Parts: sequence; structure tokens; C-alpha cells
Amino acid sequence: MKASSLLIVLVLTGFVGGPALAEETGQALYEAHCLTCHQADGRGVPRMQPPIKGSEIVIGNADTLVAYTFLGSGEDPGNWANAMPGFQQLSDADLAALLTYVRESFGTGGVVTEQSVAEIRQQFFGSD
Ligand code: HEC
Repeated sequence: MKASSLLIVLVLTGFVGGPALAEETGQALYEAHCLTCHQADGRGVPRMQPPIKGSEIVIGNADTLVAYTFLGSGEDPGNWANAMPGFQQLSDADLAALLTYVRESFGTGGVVTEQSVAEIRQQFFGSD
């Protein structure tokens, strides 16, 4: 097999570009769903939305971050003029990529898996 066709096979099977693509997807999802409030640098807007850069919820247990993002802030966001909506409408894969990006960019890193998102979704919204 020629080197060029080997590369194509690797790209198609996800060996090349897999993690990089996941990162791009996570960033695009953050930009679509979170950036207007928490800003590109994660520092929020004074009195409107808190910073998430370095937030305990972002650097802490990944499951807490997943749960928080599912539920949002509810109607009483405390000291903040804005409220955060919940994000149940995003798929497990999208939430995993988005929150992995958030932890990489604004926390101490650590992958959020699709499996853990699915489990928490089941706990909150499952019918059994
Ligand atoms: C409409 C504005 C808005 C959007 C969109 C939004 N948030 Fe928020 N977010 C808030 C507000 C307001 C709070 C503070 C809520 C409170 O303290 O009760 C908050 C709090 C948080 C916190 C907790 C910060 C802390 O330590 O207290 C995290 C983490 C977070 N948001 C992540 C996200 C992610 C991830 C997304 C995108 C999927 C997102 N937010 C989208 C407004 C928003």
C-alpha cells in the first residue's frame, strides 16, 4: 500500500485526526452554546454570568460538571443577572466533547466520556 492510501485509511478509521477533530467539535459546540454568556476566554461578564475559568465546578469532579450543565441554574441564579438554561437537548457525544473542551481550556483537563454523560442523563431523566 502506498503511503498516501495508508494515510487515507488511517484518517477514515479515526487513527489520525480523531482527538484533534473531537477537540474542534468541542470548541465549536462551546462557541454555539456557551460563549455568548461565559465568553471565549471563560471569564464571564461581571454581574451577568460568572467566570467558568478555574471554577470549582469545572476543575472538580467531571460528573458534577455534567450534572450542572444538564440542569442549568434554575430560575434563581443568585448574584447573577442572567440565568443559565439546562442543556438536556444536546446528545451524549456532543456534551462529552463540549465539556472535555471546557475542562481542557478552563480547568485542569480530563476527558468527559460519552458513557458518563449517558449515565447521568439516565439518573436525572431516565424513566426507570
Ligand atoms: C444565558 C447565559 C448562559 C449560558 C448560555 C450558559 N451559562 Fe453557564 N452560567 C450562567 C449563569 C448566570 C451562571 C451562574 C448560575 C448561578 O450561580 O446560580 C452559570 C454558571 C455556570 C457554571 C458554574 C460556575 C460556578 O463555578 O459557579 C458552569 C460550570 C457553567 N455555567 C457552564 C456552562 C456551559 C458549559 C455552558 C454551555 C453548554 C453554559 N454554562 C451556558 C449563564 C449561562
